[in-house]
This record gives sequence, C-alpha cells and structure tokens, in this order.
Amino acid sequence: MAIGDTLTRVIDSARRGAFGETDEDEAATAGRSGTAPEAAPDAIALLEADHANVKRLFEQVLGDGSGSIASERKTIEKILEELTLHAKLEETHFYPAVQKKSKRDTEDRERVLEAVEEHAAMKDLMRRIKRSTGRDETLRAKVQVLKEIVEHHVAEEEGELFPEARRLLGEKQLRALGAEFAKIKARAAGGPRAASATRKRGTSAGPAPARRRAAKG
Ligand SMILES: [Fe+2]
Repeated sequence: MAIGDTLTRVIDSARRGAFGETDEDEAATAGRSGTAPEAAPDAIALLEADHANVKRLFEQVLGDGSGSIASERKTIEKILEELTLHAKLEETHFYPAVQKKSKRDTEDRERVLEAVEEHAAMKDLMRRIKRSTGRDETLRAKVQVLKEIVEHHVAEEEGELFPEARRLLGEKQLRALGAEFAKIKARAAGGPRAASATRKRGTSAGPAPARRRAAKG
C-alpha cells in the first residue's frame, strides 16, 4: 500500500479514536473557510507556544521535588490537559493540512506519520499516568518518560516538520489555521462565551488569558 494511503488511514483513525471526534469537528476539518484574518495568529507560533508552555510545566513538576503531592498532581493534570489539546489540534487540523499539500512518498509525509506514531506513544503513557492514584512511586518516572517523548517530538517538529510546513502551507493558510486553533483553545479554556469574546477582540499568538492564568497557578 502506498505511504500516502497509509498516512490517510493513520490520521483518520487517530482523529476519530483517541479524542472522540464529533461530526462537527470533522466538518470543521473538512470545510474550513481558508480565510486568514490579518490579526489571526500564525498556527506554528501557537504550536510552539504550547511546546514552551508544556516544557515549563514539566520543569515545574520534575524540579527539586519540593512541591506538595497535591500541587504536583495538579501540574501533572495540567500537562495532560495541554498535551491532549495540542495533539488534537495537530491531528485534526495541522497534520491533515500538511498531508494535503505534500506529494506522495516524500519525507514530509513520513515526518507526519512519525509524528502521529509519537502521539500514540505519548497518549498511551498519558492514559497510564491518569490511572495512577495515591502515593504511586512510579508516577515521577512515568512523567519523566513522558517528558522525554515530548522533547523528542518537539525537536523533530521544530527542527524539521514545522519549517517544511511553513514552506508548504504559506502564511495565509497558517493564519487561517491559527484562527481555528485560537477558537478551539478559547472554547477549551472557558466555553463558548470565551470563544465569542476571542472572536470579537481578535486573537494573539499565545495561550488564551484564562489558560495563562491557570498555567501560572
Ligand atoms: Fe507539537
């Protein structure tokens, strides 16, 4: 089977399986307007901001171990939440857009396939971390391994996939995707009201304010 067909199947199954994608999500993925509001953030800048945010949260939880168990658990929950949303944005919007623009049997497609497989490994470990309760002495080890998977994934995306995606998609499409990401992030942070407020005042290239506040806490 051609690598292009395999890629389509892997992305489709990732999209439907791990995140319980709804018909509405699928429609959004298939039928985005392609408009690129001037003020819309660049999609890659948003994804890189997510990477930086998660890196900071990992450092917080795996630092000197001086935090309480409760605050450690809270930070771990935040990491899982951030990574879940980030992977969803990439799998339902970003990777399919790159896939559409890349030629069959090229390195670009292989990079996306690899990224999807890394997400699968990441999500498998995230499920095990979620199941961990009480004073689990393996919890920090699991979080450390998750950090290493994420670091590898980030290095490949920022070093290879993102520069290629920037070339393939161009500024207009990256801003259209960025606008979509900002809406989804706002909804995740505070429900429909937050999404509507974001639309009214435009968007900025960083986590939504509510998410920034939560990340600091
Ligand atoms: Fe990423």
